[in-house]
Amino acid sequence: EHSQSVKAIRASILDIARVVDNPEDIEKNVRYIDDGLMLIANGRIEWVGNWQDGKDMVPDSVRIRSYPGKILMPGFIDTHIHYPQAEMVGAYGEQLLEWLNNYTFPTEARYKDKDYAREMSAFFLKQLLRNGTTTALVFGTVHPESVDALFEAAENINMRIIAGKVMMDRNAPDYLLDTPETSYNQTKELIEKWHKRGRLLYAITPRFAPTSSPEQLAMAGKLKQEYPDTYLHTHLCENKNEIEWVKELFPEQDGYLDVYHQHGLTGSKSVFAHCIHLEDKEWDCLHDTDSAIAFCPTSNLYLGSGLFKLQEAWQRKVKVGMGTDIGAGTTFNMLQTLNEAYKVMQLQQHRLSAFEAFYLATLGGAKSLSLDHLIGNFDIGKEADFVVIDPCSTPLQQLRFDSSKDLAEELFVLMTLGDDRSIYRTYVDGRLVYERG
Ligand code: GUN
Ligand code: ZN
Repeated sequence: EHSQSVKAIRASILDIARVVDNPEDIEKNVRYIDDGLMLIANGRIEWVGNWQDGKDMVPDSVRIRSYPGKILMPGFIDTHIHYPQAEMVGAYGEQLLEWLNNYTFPTEARYKDKDYAREMSAFFLKQLLRNGTTTALVFGTVHPESVDALFEAAENINMRIIAGKVMMDRNAPDYLLDTPETSYNQTKELIEKWHKRGRLLYAITPRFAPTSSPEQLAMAGKLKQEYPDTYLHTHLCENKNEIEWVKELFPEQDGYLDVYHQHGLTGSKSVFAHCIHLEDKEWDCLHDTDSAIAFCPTSNLYLGSGLFKLQEAWQRKVKVGMGTDIGAGTTFNMLQTLNEAYKVMQLQQHRLSAFEAFYLATLGGAKSLSLDHLIGNFDIGKEADFVVIDPCSTPLQQLRFDSSKDLAEELFVLMTLGDDRSIYRTYVDGRLVYERG
């Protein structure tokens, strides 16, 4: 399936050597090669090092792709995004619960139509690739067709996508509801069909506690028990009204996260989006169960949800990855997402360094998805998903790049000023899948 041919790429090469549990350890694990060479075979990284040390290893039959002035980085990892919401980015004027009712639910109704879902899946994957994102954890809609369409499109380019059908059986319009039984059966069928097929993985996806009955959450837990290596993907503690509502709906449970925890939905492959307003016991539970958080700064600012406490997540040793959360989030672009994350931390008197930011968008994201043995940096044998960055894609960026004193500043300027123009090439599974026009 994947290309058998060997590829050789010459550029500056940047990655982070290992997973850390302290942000102070990131900088000393940064690997930067100014004039580097990467060899790829069968979609895997075969060799990375200095051009001078490696150039004689390149067979004569292999054309060297040279990207002078560009930086080769691991592909970005988006740990929370809704593909059906691409068409509603920038819906005006509401916070979470009103935004869902007024904009989101009507939009998601369209994905019952498989042809429509196909068209939008193709659009969605193209958007990811033009923004340098090579792996994403994705919400579909309640319709199994939506997930079939997305997985089919991802399979065509052998992209590592994790996705799932939304489970929701109450507190939404009738046309978007399933039942405990249909959601169980449809999810089971999708897991059997797609989980671990090629690079695809399945996430059991109850939308959030308010739209699932206890019976449905029990079904989600049953699925997780039957298929322990699937993911669990949902929302948690995003908005204060949402949290109050969960407490009313589930008076028996000890807070919002406990609703998921009591149904067996926490764990090392569970990813909770937002987590802005966590109580102490909820931080403890996330840590103790090795669950992960998706930090979605553009969404959290856009919906006025609040400021995520990244610093506290580090202190409490809870895994964090970056999420764009399209379409409450306002960009597919990870550089812009990091830019907003920096500002979220500024408002809390914490400084997000460029190295920490790029860690969260690559290896940290991989760790949050339990995929750090396969993606996230350029260790030999890892999957060849990467992006060729143009740090000087505008006159302003060129000006600012030229006056940067070191790599930290160059990267910081890249995440402050960068956008989709910064993405020069994207490779998935060792193959070129996007070229800037
Ligand atoms: N909570 C439940 N559904 C959603 C959604 O679609 N987007 C966001 N941001 N939060 C949610
Ligand atoms: Zn979301």
